[in-house]
Amino acid sequence: MRSIVPRRHRAGDPRPTRTGGGSPALGRPKPSVAPNPATIRATVLPSAHATRGPLVELHPVTDPKPDPNAVAPSVRDLETIVGLSKRRGFVFPSSEIYGGINAVWDYGPLGVELKNNVKRAWWRAMVQERDDIVGLDSGILMHPQIWVTSGHVAEFNDPMVECATCKRRFRVDEFAGAEDLGPKELLDPGIVARLGLACPNDGGPLNAPRRFNLMLKTFLGPVEDEAAVVYLRPETAQGIYVNYRNVRDTARKKVPFGIAQVGKAFRNEISPGNFVFRMREFEQMEMQYFVRPETAADYFDAWMPRRKAWYEAYGVSPERLRFREHRPDELAHYAKKAVDVEYRFPFGWKELEGIHNRGDWDLGRHSKESGENLEYFDPATEEHFIPWIVETSAGADRAAFTFLIDAYREEEVRGEKRVVLGLHPDLAPYKVAVLPLLKKRPEIVAMCHRIKSDLKRQTMAVYDDTAAIGKLYRRQDEIGTPWCVTVDVDSLEDGNVTVRDRDAMTQERISADQVTRYITDKLDAARPRGL
Ligand code: GAP
Repeated sequence: MRSIVPRRHRAGDPRPTRTGGGSPALGRPKPSVAPNPATIRATVLPSAHATRGPLVELHPVTDPKPDPNAVAPSVRDLETIVGLSKRRGFVFPSSEIYGGINAVWDYGPLGVELKNNVKRAWWRAMVQERDDIVGLDSGILMHPQIWVTSGHVAEFNDPMVECATCKRRFRVDEFAGAEDLGPKELLDPGIVARLGLACPNDGGPLNAPRRFNLMLKTFLGPVEDEAAVVYLRPETAQGIYVNYRNVRDTARKKVPFGIAQVGKAFRNEISPGNFVFRMREFEQMEMQYFVRPETAADYFDAWMPRRKAWYEAYGVSPERLRFREHRPDELAHYAKKAVDVEYRFPFGWKELEGIHNRGDWDLGRHSKESGENLEYFDPATEEHFIPWIVETSAGADRAAFTFLIDAYREEEVRGEKRVVLGLHPDLAPYKVAVLPLLKKRPEIVAMCHRIKSDLKRQTMAVYDDTAAIGKLYRRQDEIGTPWCVTVDVDSLEDGNVTVRDRDAMTQERISADQVTRYITDKLDAARPRGL
């Protein structure tokens, strides 16, 4: 367990005081990271936002051999987060009373709020606050030909080996010594002998690698035969491509424009794990940006820093984020270029989001295979062309997991450990908890409920009276509630209540009538803009 020295002196809990504590800072102060000039290049970027001018951005170029230990994770032990998630109702193992099902997780009362808030924050930045991107919600089940055309039936696979005795399968790239190999080397029949690989389960011999398709299948209609096979979508992106023309025409969009979608995706992962990091059922937040072919590289460069900035604006420490460019031999079948936004998880640097230049692969293939004309006519130049696509593809579960890990901290307050989730207020499951100082006084409880009911019309608020005030504050700290409102005996006389800030632990006395306004103003002030 890591112990963190408080960043600044905090007012002590537990009893609310009448004196104001100034205006507490929201969220955590972010450590500033000085860019290393050796790893920075400048790019002049076109504006992808209709209302913004050209951008000049600096972004790091991939370090091919980064030292994985150079940046410490926010939490050393993943079990800390898994334990907190289960104990406080963020995430539960799916089907637990039947022994569970591998790589599927359920979100509890707090987890569903956190994940919904993550998806809302993404939608606000990608759709609501922009003029050039519109939304879509397409079906999970689609015409099976889509997955043939997209290349997923032939190409969406992982090289794997099978144990001759226990029959378990393992991804080749997860064995020590194989992490950096390209697909060709991973499928080399001699790799098992060359790296001396044996079954991690029972030490048995492994067969030569072969491809294992990751798509999950089911049957549509009453007959379970080959003709009825459909796939559970492994990415939401294809639903966007096959709706491209409908959206373009109905929303009257001109290139460049984007279509965004949030929804479930399914992959029969061979080596799922690390809690919700790699699951078989998960959610994606994808945006496809349609551009003129010659501008794709510039738009790609413009989206990279924007997407990293989104995680930073919602509280992820910049030093635990980086870009990693895919080598040509590891590019997905559709990608001309791919850069991952990576996060320093407790189990290493791993992909958080992929940014891909998909060229004309998708619209070109769907146009050809469907026989429908998906070309764009540019009235300004009188040209017809297949738009190229720049994709930003994030995982909602992975993002929520990252915000949870990065927000976790332990502090010592008056000799006692305090666990705090320093979640950005927009992401916190509850924004405010209303607490009575004396639960035996019905007038105090009634006043709490009046305040809570008013708050609930605007935001997520909760009432709790099941412990002493100090313990109630700690409980809210541990689930990331940014503000607590406490009603005491004086409140009955003067109509004022105490608002306590999670991070600064300062206390401010305000009129009970002003609580909802106070909280909604704070939320509005904290919300990032123009991402
Ligand atoms: N349309 C492109 C695409 O799907 P990807 O890199 O395969 O690209 C994009 O996936 C994002 O989806 C990843 O960066 C990750 O956040 C999330 N993701 C992918 N597989 C996942 C899994 N098995 N469990 C949880 N999230 C996953």
